[in-house]
Amino acid sequence: MSEEHGAGGGDGELEALALAVQPRAYAPYSKFRVGAAVRMSGKAYGGVNVECASFPLTVCAERNAIAAAVLDGASELEAVAVCSDASPPSSPCGGCRQVLLELAADPAAVTVTAINPRGERRAWTLAELIPHGFCGRELP
Ligand code: THU
Repeated sequence: MSEEHGAGGGDGELEALALAVQPRAYAPYSKFRVGAAVRMSGKAYGGVNVECASFPLTVCAERNAIAAAVLDGASELEAVAVCSDASPPSSPCGGCRQVLLELAADPAAVTVTAINPRGERRAWTLAELIPHGFCGRELP
């Protein structure tokens, strides 16, 4: 078990959901199954990566979890958990970090935890993962 940087205590329900959904990933090309869970407006939502033979159309687990939350009417991102088989556990890709930032009122208060089925764990705040990120407040 390891923890990096200043992220606080974990969200056990969120980590359990990311772990539970990971086997449902559709990843026939990369074989890299990812399960994600986001807590938004108090509720937990899961997502998995869905790949496509036209590779750029693949959608990451984190963004599918966000889509499920938005569909349910949730609007504010509070915490994220992501589960892959990588060791050490993989953090969200750059594109997903940008989308997570989109839904976060306070990126320094959003904990992002990466886990794997072996029980390894790393955690950061979203602000650590995407410092000085571009956001909609900069648009005219
Ligand atoms: N993937 C995710 O689901 N989330 C990430 O943050 C990184 C990458 C997926 C996309 C693709 O299906 C596979 O992992 C390999 O890149």
